[in-house]
This record gives sequence, C-alpha cells and structure tokens, in this order.
Amino acid sequence: MGKNKLSKNQISELGLYDFQAYIGAMNQSTFGGQKGTQRLIEMLKIPETSEIKKINILEVACSTGYNTIKIAQQYDCHIKGIDLSEVAITKALEKKDKLHLTNVDF
Ligand SMILES: C[S@@+](CC[C@H](N)C(=O)[O-])C[C@H]1O[C@@H](n2cnc3c(N)ncnc32)[C@H](O)[C@@H]1O
Repeated sequence: MGKNKLSKNQISELGLYDFQAYIGAMNQSTFGGQKGTQRLIEMLKIPETSEIKKINILEVACSTGYNTIKIAQQYDCHIKGIDLSEVAITKALEKKDKLHLTNVDF
C-alpha cells in the first residue's frame, strides 16, 4: 500500500489496527508517554549484557515496533515483535532497515 490518500471504502476495509499503523498513530509511545514506556522497559529488568548468550525477547502485539525498536537500541539483546497487522509489520521492517538494526526481527 502506497502513501496515497485512502478512499472511505479502503479505510473501512483496513480495519482499526491496520488503519492505526497506516496513519502512523502507533509511531510513538502510547499510554504513559515516553516516561511511562521507559519505566515499563526498565521493569522488564533486561540484563545489560549477557555473559554467554544474548537474551531473547518476544513482544506480542508490537504494532509498528515502537517499543521493540526502543529496546533493541538500548539493550544488547535479540528481540522479535509480532502483530496481527501486516501493515504494521511492513512499517516496522522499514524502520528496522532504515536504522540498520541487526538485533531485531518482525
Ligand atoms: C494498541 S496497539 C499496541 C501497540 C504496542 N504494543 C504499543 O504499546 O505501542 C494493539 C496492537 O495489538 C495487535 N493485536 C491485537 N490482537 C492481537 C493478537 N491476537 N496477536 C497479535 N497482535 C494482536 C493489533 O494489530 C495492534 O497493532
């Protein structure tokens, strides 16, 4: 799907989650803002480094990967994000490629 203006029919066919991803509504921290997101990430207690093997993290319902990418950038871990929305995953993969991240998959 390109960056063209969508018709009403196209919007209703997308459904809520794909539409949110399409318009970029999930490209920012949601509830709690950036501080809240950072606090939640810290509550995960991801080890800064792992001695033997990188820790593997799975984020379920990652949408366009805002949190997934934030964690990949902050920690020496391997993280995978999954989501029902193909539009969201396509956008997440675009961001991953743009940032040249090698420790994140979608
Ligand atoms: C409000 S967004 C949350 C995005 C992200 N976790 C965040 O906090 O910024 C909800 C997401 O959940 C996804 N979702 C809903 N049910 C799901 C399921 N059963 N499996 C995978 N993803 C799901 C939707 O596609 C949508 O992208």
